[in-house]
Amino acid sequence: MKKVLLIGNGAREHAMAKALKRDDIELYCVGPANNPGIAELCEEYLFAKVTDKDAIASFAESVRPDFAVLGPESAVEAGVADMLLELEIHSASPLAIVGRLESSKAFARDLLEKYQIPGNPTFKVFHDDGGLEEFFDELGDDFVVKADGLKGGKGVKVSGDHLNGRLEGLAYARECLEESGRVVVEEKLIGQEFSLMSFCDGTHTVDMPVIQDHKRAYEGDTGPNTGGMGTYSCENHMMPFLTAVDVKEASEMNKHVAKALFEETGVYFKGVMYGGFIATKNGVRLIEYNARFGDPEAMNALVLLKTSFVDICEAIINKTLDQLDVEFEKKATVCKYVVPEGYPDEAVKDQKIEIGELPEGVEVFYASVDERDGDLYLCGSRAVAFVGKGNSVGEAEAVAQKAVEAVSGPVFYRKDIGTQELISKRVEMMKELRGI
Ligand code: GLY
Repeated sequence: MKKVLLIGNGAREHAMAKALKRDDIELYCVGPANNPGIAELCEEYLFAKVTDKDAIASFAESVRPDFAVLGPESAVEAGVADMLLELEIHSASPLAIVGRLESSKAFARDLLEKYQIPGNPTFKVFHDDGGLEEFFDELGDDFVVKADGLKGGKGVKVSGDHLNGRLEGLAYARECLEESGRVVVEEKLIGQEFSLMSFCDGTHTVDMPVIQDHKRAYEGDTGPNTGGMGTYSCENHMMPFLTAVDVKEASEMNKHVAKALFEETGVYFKGVMYGGFIATKNGVRLIEYNARFGDPEAMNALVLLKTSFVDICEAIINKTLDQLDVEFEKKATVCKYVVPEGYPDEAVKDQKIEIGELPEGVEVFYASVDERDGDLYLCGSRAVAFVGKGNSVGEAEAVAQKAVEAVSGPVFYRKDIGTQELISKRVEMMKELRGI
């Protein structure tokens, strides 16, 4: 029987574990804390940080998996796939050098520019103060300052949201320069964001359905930014505010970036290339790249996946993705996260939650929760994700909503994710932007 090593212990990795276990395989997992969903599916669970290469190496040597797959970006950045390759264990996840697509905002912007791939906003990478003030003058009131490196989503600051005016922008840019010697300053883009994740073997890309995430904690897209409160995808794998040309542009960007990464580094990008895009009145622009599945996006995509995920991972490793017919169900999905009260800044912990009677067909993915004596306890971050699937977003939303309502304890969720009202607002906003 094949053995697969999975790195990570969130809901994204629970979704990956479930997808892998649709094949008759033995699963081995590594994560810093328990995930009751993953624990139930795997033969052995190593409690270790996903960046602890020594601990993972010993575990991998004892298991000798047929291949590995990494969930979190921190494991990619730490070079876990590189370390496993030295042990002759291949991963359906990128080596660190090409993982820089996510771990260095400057690398991603420079790559697009150097290889003339359309999609960058007006931007500059600074290594010192020279020209910084002048560039802020050029951008005016609307700008974004991006620290270089992984900051758990906290390194990106946007004018109007986190930065009040040019002086605060300049001060933050200087702070980033001092910290890492590099900062990206760019134009603030107005439009609708969407995620396009592609399986990638370094040469070929296979797109997943287009998905939209909801970063803000509270209804109506208000409140602090989070890891993502929920996501939806439509039965036609499109978004109602996008045109076929928009999706094509995003898809081409992923394809060209894969090629450029190989030319730049001599290493094939193998894994999931996740483009965070924004449709603007001037076309699609890249917000940022990630070198792994999105969370919650993984849940939407993997519940729809009809093809064996094990076969896909092997095709990624063997560079034969073009020979595999990858299919997704033509259904809509809605994912809603239940999160602790106070999330994201002051989330309650160690409190019990109960999941009551769930609607038929809902998929449950555990994230930051522990199970003790048969009870579930909050661990301080997004707790449990529920995914509804249906013939329309409305049908899928009704299932996900019923599921989150079945959870009791000190938690909240966003009722508006996947509702017609919110989606229509986004469609109207794009119409107005495009002047139609
Ligand atoms: N959905 C946001 C992320 O995975 O980074």
